[in-house]
Amino acid sequence: MKREFYKNNREKVLNKIKDNSLLILFAGKAPKKTADENYPFTPNRNFYYLTGIDEEDHILVLSKLNGIAKEYLFIKEVDPIMEKWEGKTIRKDEVFDICGVEDVKYLGDFNSFTDKIILNKEDINIYLDLEKGNTSYDFLNEIKNKYYNINIKNVFNLIGSLRLIKTEEEVNRIRKAIAITIDGVNELMKNSKPGIKEYELEAYFDFVCKKNGTKDLAFKTIAAAGKNATVLHYVTNDSELMDGDLILFDLGAQYKYYNGDISRTFPINGRFTDRQKEVYNAVLRVNEKVIEEMKPGVSFLELNKKAKEWIAEECISLGLITSKEEVSKYYYHSIGHSLGMDTHDIELENRDVIFESGMIYTVEPGIYIEEEGIGIRIEDDVLITDNGYEILTKEMIKTVEEIEEFMSNNKEN
Ligand code: GLY
Ligand code: MN
Ligand code: MN
Repeated sequence: MKREFYKNNREKVLNKIKDNSLLILFAGKAPKKTADENYPFTPNRNFYYLTGIDEEDHILVLSKLNGIAKEYLFIKEVDPIMEKWEGKTIRKDEVFDICGVEDVKYLGDFNSFTDKIILNKEDINIYLDLEKGNTSYDFLNEIKNKYYNINIKNVFNLIGSLRLIKTEEEVNRIRKAIAITIDGVNELMKNSKPGIKEYELEAYFDFVCKKNGTKDLAFKTIAAAGKNATVLHYVTNDSELMDGDLILFDLGAQYKYYNGDISRTFPINGRFTDRQKEVYNAVLRVNEKVIEEMKPGVSFLELNKKAKEWIAEECISLGLITSKEEVSKYYYHSIGHSLGMDTHDIELENRDVIFESGMIYTVEPGIYIEEEGIGIRIEDDVLITDNGYEILTKEMIKTVEEIEEFMSNNKEN
């Protein structure tokens, strides 16, 4: 990403915050795992969105005082001994190139810097990212005890509403994440056969992701055969694949902190039974109908409601229910979500997003019939364009015919 991207994002945020304010964003820290091991570090997404820096501990401060906006980045002091163990950390003169912040200070100066501003201002607004579990809460507790003249504000929704609309560079990162995801799904479909375990197929996906340089996955892969697919977030992935069953995969590669998110369901032995085909086509019809509706001006919540209606109608046709009110027995999630730096990107307090060009939403209808051992979800990632939509996952095969043909032509074993 060019440094102008981060600069523009900061400018937009600065334009939206009130005068007489400090906005403080923390890169965060890797959580402790056990003993001297930590989980891998991943930057706070809002910090990353405004800086492009993916190292722990650094702090971004934006100030707007008497109408004048300023930007500061507080970075870790260089620790030559730690660097021998863990590698170099960012230097003052590298910050500008990455994100365009000119005033770079060391973390050791952070407290006295903020103290000085806060003590000199009556009723200053302190904007923090107060999404649950963030590092900001430690700081919040500290300053609540220290000052009485501050107004705490949560900046999460403000940055979140900007993040909903992707620039071309962001869309391109998601395209890349999706391309890797599709390669991975094709690889595992080729290797599907009865008698192996769900995790063995999962491994083909992991291999393709790693080979393409991804550092992480969008989320823990769901590889759910037969009845397991009726558990939405089944991640145990250790059952045997049975002849005649379907397997549902819900997975995504992450590329430079942008995610893909695809679900496909296919027959383990390469051929659908008549009943599986019937249910599959019901889900597919809803997937396609929902996508057809996507364009600027459409309300996500309205579309979510329509999708539920359509799934209910399909469930009635499939003989599963007799009235629409019973649909939640076979469909129990929302039709999709915004996709971006987080897989479930930005849960805004007010979820009724009205689609705008540049948003990316998943479309993921499903029907889950525990008593028949059938769980089917078909998930695509869709970009809202000026006139309608573009299916970013269009290269991923989807119809019964395409899946059967692909699997019979590509049997590896
Ligand atoms: N795996 C979560 C989702 O598709 O939303
Ligand atoms: Mn998914
Ligand atoms: Mn999804």
